[in-house]
Amino acid sequence: MRNIAILASGSGTNAENIIKYFSNRKTGKVTLVLSNKHEAYVLRRAAKHNVKSLFFEHTDFYGSDAVLDTLLKNKIDFVVLAGFMLLIPENILDNFEGRIVNIHPALLPKYGGKGMYGEHVHKAVLENNEKESGITIHYVNRFYDEGNIIFQAKCRVMPGDTPESLASRVHELEYAHFPEVIEKLIEKLPERIRK
Ligand code: GAR
Repeated sequence: MRNIAILASGSGTNAENIIKYFSNRKTGKVTLVLSNKHEAYVLRRAAKHNVKSLFFEHTDFYGSDAVLDTLLKNKIDFVVLAGFMLLIPENILDNFEGRIVNIHPALLPKYGGKGMYGEHVHKAVLENNEKESGITIHYVNRFYDEGNIIFQAKCRVMPGDTPESLASRVHELEYAHFPEVIEKLIEKLPERIRK
């Protein structure tokens, strides 16, 4: 059984979906939710499901080992970014190499990079008259949205779509695929990973 931590900055509908999925699996369990926003709704969703949740300061994230230590103390095996808007610092990347994944609400490498999150992504897709969009699940490295791609799924962009309607179609893809992709990845982890 692997311990999964979720990092999220916002509403946390993906986080809640992942928490629910793993609540009755033998492969893993979400044991920690971390947010850089103390008012983020994801913290309430975690509390509702009795998952430990913590807020951390931006300065601690980049200027200390506080968040890394929290992950290690809680014996976290795998880190999932679900609507998390900050780059992951070197100390965490080093300790969790190949064990941090992100979900992006578009078909990378298109519509990625700094500032491309949530609604901004869907607006850009619509402005460019794309015929399709989708989701990308990828490993995390030191750059925004540039890690190796693990999984993609597509949906159509419909005539008359708004950023909201497209976001909701993309969210459905996220809910359908993200937990299972995470599960496949944790099943492939080597027996001994923690240092
Ligand atoms: C999700 O659509 C996720 O793909 C996106 O933020 C949303 C969070 O929704 N992530 C990014 O844009 C990262 N660049 P949620 O808080 O309801 O899960």
